[in-house]
Amino acid sequence: MDNLLLGDSIGVVEMATGRRKIAVIGAGNVGATCAMVLAQMKIADIVLLDIFEGFAKGKALDLSQNANVLNYNGTITGTADYADIAGSEVIVVTSGFPRKPGMSREDLIGKNAEIVAQVGSGIKDHAPDAIIIMVTNPLDLMTYHMQKVTGFPASRVIGQAGILDSARMAHFIALELNCAEEDVNPMVLGGHGDTMVPLPRYTTVGGIPITQLISEERIAEISARTASGGGEIVKLLERGSAFYAPGSAAAIMAESVLNDRRRLIPASCFLTGEYGLNDVYIGVPCILGANGVEQIFELDLSADELASLQGSANFYKEQLTEILGY
Ligand code: NAI
Ligand code: 2OP
Repeated sequence: MDNLLLGDSIGVVEMATGRRKIAVIGAGNVGATCAMVLAQMKIADIVLLDIFEGFAKGKALDLSQNANVLNYNGTITGTADYADIAGSEVIVVTSGFPRKPGMSREDLIGKNAEIVAQVGSGIKDHAPDAIIIMVTNPLDLMTYHMQKVTGFPASRVIGQAGILDSARMAHFIALELNCAEEDVNPMVLGGHGDTMVPLPRYTTVGGIPITQLISEERIAEISARTASGGGEIVKLLERGSAFYAPGSAAAIMAESVLNDRRRLIPASCFLTGEYGLNDVYIGVPCILGANGVEQIFELDLSADELASLQGSANFYKEQLTEILGY
């Protein structure tokens, strides 16, 4: 395995990373973006693994050369060998096919389930103590599948969707109010798909609920645009799906785990009775820390909100049985 040790930029004194390790599986658009954001955080050495070795090595070399430009340090290594992920505390899984125009995330199930099984077995063999952040679509189903394949405790297998979906809602709210993105504090729960559940009652701007700032009609339009936010980008790109915000969102989750930051975020978690739901992964608010999902919060939902969340979860439960055979 090539190991690129990067020097600091001239005149820049950065702390050593302490050589903790994060692996990113899949060196494609989301994986490479995630690796770059993680590198900029300067929190760990990064291993980028892809089924295509040269692709992973090429991305790692490019990202390594970017260290001098952006003043990060630590190693970024490309590989196709699972032995190289040994010792990773967090593993972000982005390997899998993205959608093309006209496809739903669920159309990816068959192909991506095989990839997740292969990746899960590599992780189980070489990094059995890692915490897994899933990104591969259809997200909630692939997170469930990964937990089953690895047999890891459910608290150590978590799906990224909530940060991304909430960020999309935040952006549309910031456009609506012509306000700073950073002042919007959004909340989107449910599955990562058309059934997601934007929660205007729990979305604030500068501490003010958006229900006091934006009309009901416009909130409904913003919620609908949020739910189809990924599809809007797929249509525009025509070849692949979004990756900047998804890669960053996964990096934020990895950092919260690695540094035990205990960020309170929406993420796809395994439910055991919360919200009246069992044996399913679905987006709910949780605290992410050193042990993965440290706590799940049950919000006080209206009857409509709860029905939407349960409807979203039941949609995925059916697919788990019918398509994946769980
Ligand atoms: P991409 O096609 O750019 O990258 C996927 C990478 O996975 C490729 O480099 C490919 O060689 C690699 N790969 C395929 N099979 C593999 C295997 N068995 N082992 C290791 N690597 C393998 O796709 P992109 O845009 O990076 O998307 C990746 C996945 O993330 C897709 O399933 C996409 O739908 C999903 N996604 C999920 C989001 C979320 O919010 N959860 C948001 C955006 C994308
Ligand atoms: C997205 O939401 C396709 O899941 C991907 O952009």
